[in-house]
Amino acid sequence: MKFSLKAVALSAVIASTVLAAPVVEKRDVNSDRIAACFVGLLFTGSWPGSCKAAISVDLGLIRSIAINQMTMDFTTANPWAPTMSSNDVVATMLSIPGITLPIDSVRQHVIIIDNGVQLGAFDTPWSAASVKGGTMKTAFTTSTLNIFPDAKNAFSSFVGSLSTKDSHSVTLKGSVDAKLSLGVFGHLTVPGIGFKASVPIKGLGGLKNQKYIYAIEVYPGLTDSKTYMTSILNINNPSQLTVALGDVNFNSTYKGAHIGISTVKALKLVPGDNQVLTYTILDTSLSAAQEFSTALTERSEVMGISGYANSSTNPALNAGLKAVSSGVTIPQGFQGLSMSQHPYKDWSIKISPTRVATVTATFQSPYYGYPYELVYPNTDYVNEVYCGQGVADATDRSIWKFQKNVKAKVSGTGTTTVTFEVTIAKKLNPILVKAYNDMINYAKSHGGTIPIKIELLPIIIVNGDGVERFVDWSTTGNKLGDVNLKIGDDFANILIQ
Ligand SMILES: *[C@@H]1O[C@H](CO)[C@@H](O)[C@H](O)[C@H]1NC(C)=O
Ligand SMILES: *[C@@H]1O[C@H](CO)[C@@H](O)[C@H](O)[C@H]1NC(C)=O
Repeated sequence: MKFSLKAVALSAVIASTVLAAPVVEKRDVNSDRIAACFVGLLFTGSWPGSCKAAISVDLGLIRSIAINQMTMDFTTANPWAPTMSSNDVVATMLSIPGITLPIDSVRQHVIIIDNGVQLGAFDTPWSAASVKGGTMKTAFTTSTLNIFPDAKNAFSSFVGSLSTKDSHSVTLKGSVDAKLSLGVFGHLTVPGIGFKASVPIKGLGGLKNQKYIYAIEVYPGLTDSKTYMTSILNINNPSQLTVALGDVNFNSTYKGAHIGISTVKALKLVPGDNQVLTYTILDTSLSAAQEFSTALTERSEVMGISGYANSSTNPALNAGLKAVSSGVTIPQGFQGLSMSQHPYKDWSIKISPTRVATVTATFQSPYYGYPYELVYPNTDYVNEVYCGQGVADATDRSIWKFQKNVKAKVSGTGTTTVTFEVTIAKKLNPILVKAYNDMINYAKSHGGTIPIKIELLPIIIVNGDGVERFVDWSTTGNKLGDVNLKIGDDFANILIQ
């Protein structure tokens, strides 16, 4: 069969004209020329100058662009050169019926325009692309967005729009270089495919949806009129943007009055829920802060959280952050908040014939993925383990007291198993003897374990911030219920007098 290129190209053009008729985008002469150019390229491997000109226009091969995910990193040394990347860019192309363009990689030269002002430009490296029908999917790795020197204010407003709006459209203009795999004609690069498209980007919506999750430590300063709160907040990011913002300070308010500053270090928000570690310093010399503290003992209260002119050391971000205004409800007395998981598990005890008691336990992070270092149990306070409900009905059900020797370092998601010596009663009164016998009997019919309650108030360092914090890891204080302790036959050594 004799192959007629002209016939194929013509029928493609006619077909596309017919098919495109009901579509809003009106087909123009240039669109037909572009279609014919690509048909020609596929069948002859040639790309004449007229085709170069045809594809260079703003609305040519590429009709619209959607960015379904984007990462922006504002922590770069130069605040006016943040980086961007995306793993999901979809371009809708001029449909050329019967033809799928064999594009396998692209690079982009893009100018971002917001409200008519050119903000800056970025060039992406060559990135894999795939085409299905008239849709091209691609991605791009970290690329620097160079803000134009005279566009700094416009860029700050753009960041403000992204921070506060639910959706914000920008115009992307530029060109794409595409590599096509043309079979017998080899691999060919078609440079300079023009585009200009209005691209809606879902914004952070003022980060309105915040929730107070857990109070790690609330510490009234002894020598200053400050209260130090270390908390986990959930910040919901409703957009498809992942943003790295660096250290961010927020103005904390109560009923509209300043009460302190809340800081999130190295704030990074991914789409959806983010549990962030927040440091709040309440200035209790302010009457509003005193009122807030007092009110919290009686009821749940909202702490306002808003950006301000100096929220960040990055001037490009401040205008955007200034517009953020949100708040969290802190429950009365910090009650009813839960850890992400128990701080410990898998407890067991061994008691030697000389009544040396060693305990093994596995530690893990209860702080929503943040690591900690257990420095020591604060033995100035109650640090004791006693058997739980239904084991022994004695007034003294103590098993051991912690010493200061318990140390563990855990990653946010990992576990660390440690063994340490604990203190058991030297002299046994009849009440304890009965309690221990009850425990031994209970374990016999319960797989060698007994439920225990743990009073552990350790000194820890959270997230490597170097500050020793005094926290409550008691099973009762955190409503953790009974925890199981494994005991063996050696537990009977506890009864040796
Ligand atoms: C914090 O907000 C309050 C109330 O809007 C305001 O009076 C105060 O100046 C703000 N503080 C800062 C540091 O922006
Ligand atoms: C922001 O901080 C800088 C230095 O820390 C200071 O000089 C400036 O006055 C602050 N601006 C505002 C508006 O608070």
